[in-house]
This record gives sequence, C-alpha cells and structure tokens, in this order.
Amino acid sequence: MSNVPHAYRGAILHSLADPAEVGIEASYAYFEDGILLVEDGKVRDVGPAIELLPRLAGVALTHYDNALITPGFIDTHIHFPQTGMIGAYGEQLLDWLNTYTFPTEMRFADQAHAREVAEVFVNELLRNGTTTALVFGSVHKQSVDAFFEVASALDLRMIAGKVLMDRNAPEALTDTVESGYADSRELIERWHGKGRLHYAVTPRFAPTSTPEQLAMAGRLLGEYPDLYLHTHLSENRQEVEWVKGLFPDNGGYLDVYDKHQLTGPRSVFAHAVHLCDAECRRLAETGSAVAFCPTSNLFLGSGLFDLKRMEQYKVRVGLGTDIGAGTSFSQLRSLSEAYKIMQLQGQKLDPFKSLYLATLGSARALYLDERIGNFEAGKDADFVVLDYQATPLIDYRLKQSSNLAERLFALITLGDDRVIRETFAAGNSVHRRDG
Ligand code: GUN
Ligand code: ZN
Repeated sequence: MSNVPHAYRGAILHSLADPAEVGIEASYAYFEDGILLVEDGKVRDVGPAIELLPRLAGVALTHYDNALITPGFIDTHIHFPQTGMIGAYGEQLLDWLNTYTFPTEMRFADQAHAREVAEVFVNELLRNGTTTALVFGSVHKQSVDAFFEVASALDLRMIAGKVLMDRNAPEALTDTVESGYADSRELIERWHGKGRLHYAVTPRFAPTSTPEQLAMAGRLLGEYPDLYLHTHLSENRQEVEWVKGLFPDNGGYLDVYDKHQLTGPRSVFAHAVHLCDAECRRLAETGSAVAFCPTSNLFLGSGLFDLKRMEQYKVRVGLGTDIGAGTSFSQLRSLSEAYKIMQLQGQKLDPFKSLYLATLGSARALYLDERIGNFEAGKDADFVVLDYQATPLIDYRLKQSSNLAERLFALITLGDDRVIRETFAAGNSVHRRDG
C-alpha cells in the first residue's frame, strides 16, 4: 500500500443513503469536476476540484476524462468454485446442483486446481469493478485457503467460508459435524481478521445440513466475534417444499435457520424469493440481510425478487451475482436485469437506487458501511473508474443524454466489464483495462 497521498480528478459520484429512506436527491453526491484524495489506502477527502486543488500543492494527481469515479462494487453472494460452470444449460435449481454443480465442486479437493480457479475468479471480480465479495468456497478447506491467498496478496476486503454439507450430496462433497467444525475453526484462526479478510460460516442450505450441523454452525458463530453466516433461503419452489418435508416441525424455511441461531447481524441469506410476510418481518427484526441475485433468479427460473416488499419491511438488501447460477460477474449487468425484474412486477428501479444497491446498500447488508460503500473520509480507498466511451454505442448513447441520471441508467443498461477502465483496492491499482 502506498502511504503517499494521491489525488484522482474527474466526475465523481457516490451514495450517501438509501433513496427509499431519504428520497433520490438526498441519496447521492456528485461532483462534475471532483477530486478524490487517497492516503494510506484510505479516502482522505472528496469534493469539488475548485475547493480541494488549492490544498494539494505537490500531491500527485491523475486526471480521468470522459469517466465517472464511483466506489468499488460489492457482491453479496457468489460461488468461486462455480466459475468454470457459468452458463450451464437447461435446469432449475435442484437438478442444476446435481447435474452440474456437485461434479464441478468435487475438483476442488485438488489444491492446485483451487489455486488456478481462485486466480481466474479474483481477476474476473476486479475486471468487473468488484472490490468486495461474500464468497462460497467448496466443502474443501483448501478451496478457501486458495481464495484467501489470492485476495490477501492484493489486500482486498473479502469474506469467504468453506461449505458445510453433511447430507443429501455426493459422498465426496460431504463433511461431518465434527470435521466441518474443525476445518471451519482452522480457517477462522488462519484468516478471520487478517488484513481485510473476514470469515463466513457457510452451511450450503438447509437441505444439505443435518439439524446437528446447523446447530454446530450456530455455536461456531458465538465463538468468535464478527463472523458472518452465509447460506441460501427460499430460492426455488421445489426447494421450499423439500425443506418443509425435511424439517416438518419448523414453522417455515427461515424458521429452520432462526431456531439454530443462524439469523442476526452479518447473516446473509441469498435469494429470499419465496417468503411470507412473517419471514420478511423476522429478517428485519433480527438484522439479517438478503442478497438479491437478478441474473441467477432469471437464469434458473427461480422467480421474481420483491425489492419493494423488502423496503417496506426494512430488510437489508445487498446485490449478488451468484456465479455460477448467475450469468455475469458484472454488477452493471446484475442491475440491468434487476431493472427488468422490477418492470415485470410493475415497479421502477431508479438508477441512483441501483448505485446504492451495488455500493453502500450492499456495504450495509454486510455491516461494513463504516469501512466501504462510499467516499466518506476514513473509509477504504476501493473505487472504480467507469469509461463513458467504453464501446462505440455507449459513447454515442451518452452523448445524447442530458443529465446524470440518464447517463448512469444508460451505463447500467448497456454496460459490462468493458466499462471498467480501472479498479483500485486500498488505494492500489489492481486492474487496468487494456486500451
Ligand atoms: N442452493 C444451494 N446451493 C446452491 C448453489 O450453489 N447455487 C444456488 N444458486 N443455489 C443454491
Ligand atoms: Zn448461491
């Protein structure tokens, strides 16, 4: 990390609050000609160039033309071992898991394979402007070692955990209550709190853990401060029915997690598509978060996430790609699909709400909003430079636009990895697009 101050000049946009709470205009700050001042891997200051420049004599300055500087994107649900099976044809969740996912994840028993995929995966995150992610490993502890080794070499803020799975999966992919506990503890001791890394206790979903393993996961959460809980919830109707059959004495899918002490702050439930009102209320009450995974929900035909209902119940919502059920690492693509999901429900998704979801909203979902998510002084200097001329069509379309909201919406609708000109983590350039 460089501790010499560096100023980045260009158009700068960041979220200040949830538009659902403060309205659109108060939800963001925009500096047409702004400066982002970075020192020691942290944001020192942000504001109009005309105000900051007089104080910056002697400070190195990089100027970005035809670009928009925003906070790095945050992905609140993604599977690193599924990188190589993205875009697998023809199935919905349960058949997709058996046909494609489990065979793919078996290969992560091999440390060298895990390391190779971890490098591809982290590179893809950075190419897409994602600087923080909540990541599923495989059941093998070496998969998480491989991922954290790559992330720590780049000083990234990342959260990950090994999958816990002791039933309803191929034998080569199962652990036990005891081995799952021992392996998770070993990883927590090695990685949790090291640099900018955090550990997530990661039962795959209720059907693949016995009640005893879920209880163990709940105990583990109590043994170390600030651990995460990362799992899936009510993604697919067949899955929901299966959970009812497996846990007949419980009130519903969320209740299974709740009874095992798995809800609460830093618990993140991916999908949450098929919930009843009581479950939404309980998510909010416990301070749990859900990950909205638009490309995945469409690709697996899982259903339409109800963002408005989550807002009404004040549930924390992050944005997830859910690779490999999701079809793109790009949070711009996720937001473009999120817009369509809202349209199908007669709702709109304002571009500034989209910005919030991909940055500060996801940081809030992860209880990391004191460290990342916008350019408040003292936060980590994780940011991206978006290219207004990324493609001929984007360039042409943006030249027709008359205001920031229109430019932002067009970038989201037309954009992908080509829009990411440069990605910075802790003040270091960690990806620069060729050309
Ligand atoms: N539910 C349980 N496992 C998975 C998985 O790997 N991906 C998705 N999308 N849902 C799941
Ligand atoms: Zn998932």
